[in-house]
Amino acid sequence: MNKSPHVAVVGATGAVGIEMIKTLEKRNFPVGKLTLLASARSVGKKLKFRGTDISVKELQPDSFAGIDIALFSAGGSISKEFAPIAAKAGCVVIDNSSAFRMDDSVPLVIPEINAADVKGHKGIIANPNCTTAVTLMALYPLHQAFSVKRIFASSYQAVSGTGAKAIEELERQVDQIVKGQPVTKQVYPHQIAFNVLPHVDSFLPSGYTKEEMKMENEGRKIMHHPTFRASVTCVRVPVYRAHSVAVSAEFEKPVSVDAAREVLRKAPGLDVVDNPEKNEYPLPLYVAEKYHCQVGRIRRDCALENGLAFWVSGDQLLKGAALNAVQIAEELIK
Ligand SMILES: NC(=O)c1ccc[n+]([C@@H]2O[C@H](COP(=O)([O-])OP(=O)(O)OC[C@H]3O[C@@H](n4cnc5c(N)ncnc54)[C@H](OP(=O)(O)O)[C@@H]3O)[C@@H](O)[C@H]2O)c1
Repeated sequence: MNKSPHVAVVGATGAVGIEMIKTLEKRNFPVGKLTLLASARSVGKKLKFRGTDISVKELQPDSFAGIDIALFSAGGSISKEFAPIAAKAGCVVIDNSSAFRMDDSVPLVIPEINAADVKGHKGIIANPNCTTAVTLMALYPLHQAFSVKRIFASSYQAVSGTGAKAIEELERQVDQIVKGQPVTKQVYPHQIAFNVLPHVDSFLPSGYTKEEMKMENEGRKIMHHPTFRASVTCVRVPVYRAHSVAVSAEFEKPVSVDAAREVLRKAPGLDVVDNPEKNEYPLPLYVAEKYHCQVGRIRRDCALENGLAFWVSGDQLLKGAALNAVQIAEELIK
């Protein structure tokens, strides 16, 4: 891999794409050249990188000549169509959509957990689901120490997880409510302002949503733990940025709160924020725009054998998307 790669961001104008550009800059990723791609709607729009304006170009099948690494965040159908084209053109694709995550030939990577899997790529590497990524940042170190059997979890997912249009929807609805105007809906099936929706992604015949099953399926692949089980309820909340997850985990080995804290304090990419007596615990408002996820409310789960309950928050636009993608790119040029 070129040590100063030509990088493309596909979906550069979106909620994740904008964070990818910022993350490449903030982490001093050695970008040789940056190409920004989006739909025809964005052609000519300019985005800043290292103080320079870069014009957005329309994504086309011939967009990938000379590009070394392409960070894709333009949705699953664009990834399905264009990622194989990009890989064929000799570029390594790091894909944020769910299109290839469960494909056996595609590594699914959280660098703090399974960085070595990057080496097995055949042109496409998948970035995990954002809620799964935030959860595993705390769960995996505990798994290494105590061997997780299963979890029960509920998520509290920010609207930015749905993209730029959902951020506008929450802003607009709050404004409409404050002004006493009728509330309009474009993105979610119900009002999201001053409400919570137990519905993220589409429903499966089992009654779970696709988003809910990503925790078990992607968790198994990332942790190399084929028997891991997860029963999850995913909930959209009127938070702009950062997902939180309440987790009850059951382990094979006996676990204590002190031993869990010790493990979590040493975990990479994670901070323990757990002083309930001082009202200190992870909050999406304060974890937003931070690279590290935070874990707190760590306690013995009173309903499980060898169980721990905890609360983990993380900026899903960063650890659940842009940061994780750039960390994978960093693995590629090591
Ligand atoms: N948001 C998150 O927290 C998050 C986390 C993990 C993964 N993801 C995944 O990342 C992807 C993007 O999410 P997002 O939240 O950034 O969405 P978004 O804000 O809606 O942005 C979508 C991006 O895709 C581009 N796009 C749409 N149609 C296109 C087309 N036909 N050709 C080329 N580009 C096209 C858009 O360009 P225009 O501006 O020109 O329309 C925009 O840049 C999705 O697959 C999502 O599942 C998102």
